[in-house]
Amino acid sequence: MRAAYAIAANDADPLSALEVGERPEPTPAGPDWVTVEVRAGSLNHHDLWSLRGVGLPADKLPMILGCDAAGIAPDGSEVVVYPVIFGPESGPPWSILSEHFPGTLSERVTVPATNLVRKPEALSFTDAACLPTAWLTAYRMLTAKGRLTAGGSVLVQGAGGGVATAAVVLAGALGARVYATSRDAAKRERIAALGATAFEPGARLPERVDVVIETVGEATFEHSMKCANVGGRIVVSGATAGHLPKVNLRRVFANQLEILGTSMGTPEELAALMTLLVEKDVRPVVDSVFGFSEVRKAFEKLNDGDVFGKVVIDYTR
Ligand SMILES: NC(=O)c1ccc[n+]([C@@H]2O[C@H](COP(=O)([O-])OP(=O)(O)OC[C@H]3O[C@@H](n4cnc5c(N)ncnc54)[C@H](OP(=O)(O)O)[C@@H]3O)[C@@H](O)[C@H]2O)c1
Repeated sequence: MRAAYAIAANDADPLSALEVGERPEPTPAGPDWVTVEVRAGSLNHHDLWSLRGVGLPADKLPMILGCDAAGIAPDGSEVVVYPVIFGPESGPPWSILSEHFPGTLSERVTVPATNLVRKPEALSFTDAACLPTAWLTAYRMLTAKGRLTAGGSVLVQGAGGGVATAAVVLAGALGARVYATSRDAAKRERIAALGATAFEPGARLPERVDVVIETVGEATFEHSMKCANVGGRIVVSGATAGHLPKVNLRRVFANQLEILGTSMGTPEELAALMTLLVEKDVRPVVDSVFGFSEVRKAFEKLNDGDVFGKVVIDYTR
């Protein structure tokens, strides 16, 4: 079957570690595992980390990349694949597809049957394939972790990215006032079109916010601390620009800030996210859709940082 996979780790030139070609059919890792015919997938920054060797040790190579997929289950139903694998063989305490078990950038992927979440008919395969990693993470950051309420306020840092555009759209759908920063003027315009008030990184906001969505790290964290209201929640799920920011502890205790780490979400949260999208009639922000034969081009686009929203792979093309 066709697949996109890592053959090496190259921190300086991650795309040199990417191979696109034929791989053997997936084999179920347990009796309750099932095979999904993938119709669409999407790329995440996680795939670039894997090509750099972060979280993907050499003894796991070659490894099929990809965390996100939507497709057809063995019973013919339309499903979204929940990408977190639990269990002793998946590494402590759990892993995401493409770390210990082959990922979704292949025509077929095998996962535990409990990882299949019904896809609402109203969502296309390409929209649904955006959700399991970036959108699920953003949803949990805002809801279970950020405890965002309607009428509340949110700052989303580095707003052009997959998680960040998801957070902007979802925060709006949840009834919040949304502020966002991006380094890029064109992306700021597009963020504004999604309903957020867009600023350059480090700008003073009109108000301090209840929740800050942090996936950038060192480049934005000090600003996040300054922008959080008393009792504000700074929710962190990534550190694209470095994971060792300076933290002013006086600000943390004086303003009673909460700094909350989070990763991914639960299958129930993935189902709730899809219900919210259908109910509010909002859809994922898609930067571009590539056919499977163009998957290398898709990686190049993500690696260049020239994206606004999700880079999607349509397996039917
Ligand atoms: N823990 C989890 O479960 C989880 C899940 C999903 C993602 N993540 C992590 O979250 C991060 C974002 O993932 P993604 O898939 O959304 O990535 P992405 O689509 O590649 O977006 C990254 C965004 O970060 C911003 N950025 C990058 N370098 C920056 C810098 N030096 N200064 C300011 N902003 C910078 C950019 O925003 P602008 O260009 O708009 O400034 C860019 O659009 C990654 O580190 C990923 O590993 C974690």
